[in-house]
Amino acid sequence: MASLKICCMGAGYVGGPTMAVIAANCPEIRVTVVDLNAAQIAAWNSSNLPIYEPGLQAVVESCRGKNLFFSTDIEKEIEEADIVFISVNTPTKTQGIGAGRAANIKNCELCARTIAKVSTSNKIVVEKSTVPVRTADAVRRVLACNDKGLTFQVLSNPEFLAEGTAIDDLQKPSRVLIGGEETPGGQEAIQKLVSVYANWVPAAQIITTNLWSSELSKLVANAFLAQRVSSINSISALCESTGADVSEISRAIGSDPRIGPKFLQSSVGFGGSCFQKDILNLVYLCESYGLSECAEYWHQVIKMNEYQKSRFTKKMVERMFNTATGKKIAVLGFAFKKDTGDTRETASAFVCRDLLAERAKIHVYDPQVKREQMMLEFDYTLNVNTTTEPDLEKLITTSSSAYDACDGAHAIAVLTEWDEFKTLDYQRIYEKMSKPAFIFDGRNIVDQAALRKIGFEVYAIGKPWPHM
Ligand code: NAD
Ligand code: UDX
Repeated sequence: MASLKICCMGAGYVGGPTMAVIAANCPEIRVTVVDLNAAQIAAWNSSNLPIYEPGLQAVVESCRGKNLFFSTDIEKEIEEADIVFISVNTPTKTQGIGAGRAANIKNCELCARTIAKVSTSNKIVVEKSTVPVRTADAVRRVLACNDKGLTFQVLSNPEFLAEGTAIDDLQKPSRVLIGGEETPGGQEAIQKLVSVYANWVPAAQIITTNLWSSELSKLVANAFLAQRVSSINSISALCESTGADVSEISRAIGSDPRIGPKFLQSSVGFGGSCFQKDILNLVYLCESYGLSECAEYWHQVIKMNEYQKSRFTKKMVERMFNTATGKKIAVLGFAFKKDTGDTRETASAFVCRDLLAERAKIHVYDPQVKREQMMLEFDYTLNVNTTTEPDLEKLITTSSSAYDACDGAHAIAVLTEWDEFKTLDYQRIYEKMSKPAFIFDGRNIVDQAALRKIGFEVYAIGKPWPHM
């Protein structure tokens, strides 16, 4: 008989991997992940998991059907659970008050209402979703409205995994953060969740705080990480104008232990479902509390990212004699980073959008992103669809290999840092391209000197641009 039962609401990029790792490390705990989306649950129960994440398949297969389950029977699983995680999406609001900035927590509220409705015993409810500070108050008040005299303890336990390294991040987290109420009941609940993580995380790495510090720390962590990327990207522009090399600068400043070497990789711009959403959320919170200077400070991180994305396409067009019309452009990479199939907020989509506006013919290759997913990204994120862009289907070709994408192309844009793009046979690619053959490296992964030797015109982010 399992001693503890966990139910997780939301079987997405966070809920699925996180619960799989809990199940793998705690064989005595029964873990069930539930979702409103039946297709998502069916995929988790199949050999074709709904997300690509290195190492995930093996972890899921090691415990699925033993102490890890995926189900659409949400009410039953909540009722039976001792601990319910809320790991649902909290996207930026698209309309109403705070549209374009505030995080929409309607899914979290809905989860709280369902928990209050179906529970027949006291439970710990854990916010795993990234939420605005003080959301736990709303969750707590909704839960308190149950008519059965039940008591719920609300904890905040934000997730710090990064996509592409989720399993490693979950197995060896830099820290686990748990916030709870400063009452005996709150402290008891914190200790119960601590004891789950203590099965594989050293005690010193489990940080406990009050609820609000925990909720806010998540937004602040992402804001600081994104700020580093925007900071180095701002310097990349200056490098291109002055002859300095951004990689040399990253090494030079990153060697100072006070700065550190990580997250100083200049790029075509950060993407992903978290950075922009969470900073906008932070900006909105600052504005709501009347802290306009703080709001503006963090907003600059987003503005710099917008600049970096559009700057890249502008430079591409400029270098191709100020016109991309009718030219075939090979886009290598569509995911927002390597080792994931996730395309949310990917810089690649923004570059493609701007190239489409120039009437370029785009041939995209990404080892993990399917055509339907690319089209959805254009539709939802960029509002480019067959209504606003009737020729979209014709202007975008999805290629089954990098070689196909580059065949006959005028230019290559490397937009995701997939390892396979480092070792392509660029001599073979060059021979089949239109001349002059351009390569624009938005990730600084190609061997520029070797490519120049072949005959390419190479332009890379933050590197001295030839003929300055
Ligand atoms: P996701 O969109 O991949 O998954 C969310 C899932 O929740 C979806 O499958 C959806 O159907 C389900 N859902 C929504 N409402 C539901 C309900 N009422 N009941 C049951 N299921 C419901 O989202 P994600 O990327 O896993 O992110 C989840 C949360 O974690 C967000 O708040 C996000 O900001 C945060 N987060 C994400 C990452 C990441 O790398 N993706 C990392 C850290 C934190
Ligand atoms: C991020 C946080 O890292 C993670 O802790 C949080 O839980 C969720 O948000 P994720 O978005 O999955 O994770 O990936 P991350 O590795 O942070 O990269 C985000 C974006 O920044 C990517 O587009 C990446 O290519 C870009 N990036 C990252 C850079 O351009 N340069 C860098 O040096 C690092």
